[in-house]
Amino acid sequence: MTAIKNVTGTAFIVAEFRAEENHEPMPLYRDPIVGLFLNDETRRAATAACAANPSAKEAVKLRTRYLDDVLEARIAEGCRQVVILGAGLDTRAIRKRAPGVAYFELDDGATLDFKKARFDEHGLDADVTFIPANYVAEDWIGLLEAHQFDSGLPTHFIWEGNTMYLPLVEVMRVLVRLREHVPQSTVALDYLSEKVITKSTGDPALCALVEYFARLNAPWITGIEDVHALADGLGLAVRENVSTADLHRKHWPDRAITSSFFQFYSLCTLAPRSGAVPGA
Ligand SMILES: C[S@@+](CC[C@H](N)C(=O)[O-])C[C@H]1O[C@@H](n2cnc3c(N)ncnc32)[C@H](O)[C@@H]1O
Repeated sequence: MTAIKNVTGTAFIVAEFRAEENHEPMPLYRDPIVGLFLNDETRRAATAACAANPSAKEAVKLRTRYLDDVLEARIAEGCRQVVILGAGLDTRAIRKRAPGVAYFELDDGATLDFKKARFDEHGLDADVTFIPANYVAEDWIGLLEAHQFDSGLPTHFIWEGNTMYLPLVEVMRVLVRLREHVPQSTVALDYLSEKVITKSTGDPALCALVEYFARLNAPWITGIEDVHALADGLGLAVRENVSTADLHRKHWPDRAITSSFFQFYSLCTLAPRSGAVPGA
């Protein structure tokens, strides 16, 4: 479980970044729940991450909005289940609850126990099934099915803040399993350009960010250069692919883009291609 353990702490940094948007007069989203997870220690960790490169914080806010928008659209299309892989301190099961839509979250047991304890303390009735699991090492589809997940229903997967921490082969394995076992699914995920990982963006501030996460023992190891080629090779279709620079221009047209990070950090929504060969 080493891979999970070192990455787990980053969920608190993300939660801090996400929470900050609540103070904006015109926020991209509202997350009234995330504050329950934060304290002086998480604030210090987020301040240190911001010192490494402040654009990471803005990128987290943009990705939150994108993933919220895709989720809402999928629910409107009739999706009945939402699975959040490596959920960390994601609060969508409460923020985006909808009649007839079941939420499932997978993460390590300690993270999910912490989250449940906070919800219980605050009397929050989160209608979500927590499944402690390492989705790299365990049969996570089997675990979902053991918890009333129905692979035959239209399902949306959210895989946020995870792909960069995994070997590419594991990223591909997760996507193939999803395609094989949940045919009526979509998955929305974020990914870095390989140039960030190989420190070849030409921007020293991005190298500083990579080095910061390496020092945290949660190194960014995987980037994706051509998501269309990757998806194609896995029998998936790209429904949408946007850089955080695109999102920045869309949501903050009056703000200057002050870092190249936005150009090298993207989000996409993939779905099994109709006619994809199971197991291929
Ligand atoms: C950077 S955090 C992102 C959390 C959340 N998705 C978000 O964006 O707010 C990464 C999360 O993924 C979880 N994670 C990483 N690898 C995992 C694995 N193999 N199985 C289950 N959870 C994993 C970590 O424990 C951590 O909570």
